Amino acid sequence: MSAPERITIDVGAHQGVGVAPELWGLFIEDLNDALDGGLNAERVRNGDFEFSAADHDGWDALTAWHPDVAERVEVRTDAPIHPNNAHYLRLAGPVTVVNDGWDGIAVTGGQDFRLSFFARTAGEPVRLVAAVDDLASTEVTVRPGGWHRYEATLIAVADGQGRLRIEIPESGTVDLDHVSLRPAGPDGEPLTFRPDLLEALKDLAPSFIRFPGGCLAHGLGLDNVYHWKTTIGPRHKRGQLPSLWGYHQSRQIGYVEYFELCQASGATPIPVVAAGVCCQNTPGGPQAIDDAGMDAYIQDVLDLIEFANGSPDTPWGARRAELGHPEPFDLRYLGLGNEDEITDDFRDRYARIEDAVREHHPEICVIGTSGPQFFGRDYEAGWAFARARGTAMVDEHGYRNPRWFHQNVDRYLTYEPGPQVYVGEYAARSNTIRSALAEAAYMIGLERSPGVVRLASYAPLLARAGHTQWTPDLIYFTATEVLPSASYHVQAMFSRERGSRLHPVTLGGVEPEPVTLPKTGSVRLSSQRASVDYADIVLDGVVRQAVSTSPGGEPVELGGIDPAAATLELTATRRAGDEGFVVELGGESYLQVHVGSWQNKSTVVIRGDDGITNEDHGPLHWHGVRTGVPVRVKVRLDGARVRVWVDGELRHDYEQDLRPEHRVVVGAASRTAADGSTEYVIRAVNAHPTARVASIRLAEPLEPAVATVTTLAGAGPDEGRPFTASPVTPVVTTAAGDTLDLPPWSFVTAVIRRTP
Ligand code: AHR
Repeated sequence: MSAPERITIDVGAHQGVGVAPELWGLFIEDLNDALDGGLNAERVRNGDFEFSAADHDGWDALTAWHPDVAERVEVRTDAPIHPNNAHYLRLAGPVTVVNDGWDGIAVTGGQDFRLSFFARTAGEPVRLVAAVDDLASTEVTVRPGGWHRYEATLIAVADGQGRLRIEIPESGTVDLDHVSLRPAGPDGEPLTFRPDLLEALKDLAPSFIRFPGGCLAHGLGLDNVYHWKTTIGPRHKRGQLPSLWGYHQSRQIGYVEYFELCQASGATPIPVVAAGVCCQNTPGGPQAIDDAGMDAYIQDVLDLIEFANGSPDTPWGARRAELGHPEPFDLRYLGLGNEDEITDDFRDRYARIEDAVREHHPEICVIGTSGPQFFGRDYEAGWAFARARGTAMVDEHGYRNPRWFHQNVDRYLTYEPGPQVYVGEYAARSNTIRSALAEAAYMIGLERSPGVVRLASYAPLLARAGHTQWTPDLIYFTATEVLPSASYHVQAMFSRERGSRLHPVTLGGVEPEPVTLPKTGSVRLSSQRASVDYADIVLDGVVRQAVSTSPGGEPVELGGIDPAAATLELTATRRAGDEGFVVELGGESYLQVHVGSWQNKSTVVIRGDDGITNEDHGPLHWHGVRTGVPVRVKVRLDGARVRVWVDGELRHDYEQDLRPEHRVVVGAASRTAADGSTEYVIRAVNAHPTARVASIRLAEPLEPAVATVTTLAGAGPDEGRPFTASPVTPVVTTAAGDTLDLPPWSFVTAVIRRTP
């Protein structure tokens, strides 16, 4: 290993600029089984028998349930417990039904579980036995009469993982619905949140929590929009819906539980409501609530604010009190829209809602939206709209590769005055140390732009290993384990040690890393979901042989190129399959021209650096590849300029971003400790194979000084994978306050104080 390089960190005097006090928070959306099957402490899957094919192909009311004798179990809908909970089981004993839970039901010896369900029987009392394998069991007698809620306690006799068995050992017919099994808390009451995941969230010391999404907030289609009123009150009466993430939303963690989660973790709520239009990814395009429905929708939004903040004398404040919360939830922010396409319909609906909130609740900070990327058409249009309307804050989203984050550490220093920014979703596209450090570098940049950036949340937050629709995620979990990623530790290190006064930092001995085009490369063709023939191939003026690619097959190499000066032309014809094909050009860093990607709806140029990709240009809407219809593609690389023609149309024409990367990044803030003394919080990223030793000079030297140093280091840049815990965890040491060791590929937070 090479000797550490010496660098200097000069922390200048505070210039009156405060750190954004609520900068670090959480984004919660029920995708990847984050809520149902995750944070929701419920152990029974599909306890309401409401799963259906609309949630997921092949699902129905009996998904996750297994009768021993199918003929003795009937799914019925007549006279249900509630119209929102239309399906129930009629069990004709003797019979047993078994529920899988989510990858089993984990229990710990000695732990109490609260079983509850609704049941009715017409004849004699019926004995029912409930058990989790041979780990815990109980008995309940169902009395004749209408629907009645039953409760019982199961105490686990040992640790283990089983399935919930409900058995009618003798004859007798019972209707069964809303089956629930939750661990009991210290007060004996069933828990709302899975405790280990709740702790993991609390350990992030979030200032705010955004909910319910993400795309889930505005739904795939108008009947899939998340309406808060259907998510409060008794769970068995809540409105359940298919999730656009391909599963079912039980809404058991609805708006009250969300506000309770905020309270439990000391966070301020940021609910996100649809801006009167559904998700831009809705097949056929986003639709808007019609004029006739808009007044009621706007009233719903106003009612949410009253529900959160109104006194119990108001109708919705009274409802909150009735649900156990006489004290308000202190709502100060409201997200309006999520990554929406900035259409005329969007502008119209958004304006009506924002105007109403301004009129009735000027105290609420409305957060507008600016598309799914940190740039592009909806980003530009969203920002122009927000500026024109004087919207208080704009939500920006970006999932980019680590290089992009290192290139954009100073992004917000050049923002024009206007709406402030909530960086509502971001992640550096992998669970590696490389990505975690790139996020840390960017976060230092966010922290030092408090005039612009007020709030930021990594996304997505939670993911059940093996059940993801999106990676990377911050926290993976199984039925029994919590597996925090390296990015999780970065988030925690920022959030748990915060300064309040910003200080400028001058670094000595550090230069940004130049970004250059690769010197050599090649061209490769592939097609993940189609069989494609390529003919009339001309690469740099040389005619090449026709080739073919097949689904999932190895890429076919066409030959070497100079990635700064290359021209490729080919005609591609799909023989079978879905979607289109990919032309990859380059070496270590490469470009992929996707023709017919994203459900065959677009063309896009993707770049890969250090093996991690993101969109470089596009996606741009396109009619898609059609079987048997040839597509002529031309790609020209000319220095940093990239041009792509499809059937003669120039679709992509842009310059690759060759700005240098900031891989050694330092930020500083100070705060006043309880005893009135000054403490400095120094954060330093060293996303580099060379160790550094930094000499620190503080604006007001603290002598003698001691530093509590938290270091995340020790793993290579490419270590760290989805579904596993970070390869390294932060280590806390004590050091003198004037030097800081920055190991290779590390993130360090030092709190420097005068030695007592
Ligand atoms: O975080 C996952 C998804 O990414 C969110 O639902 C959406 O807003 C974004 O596209």
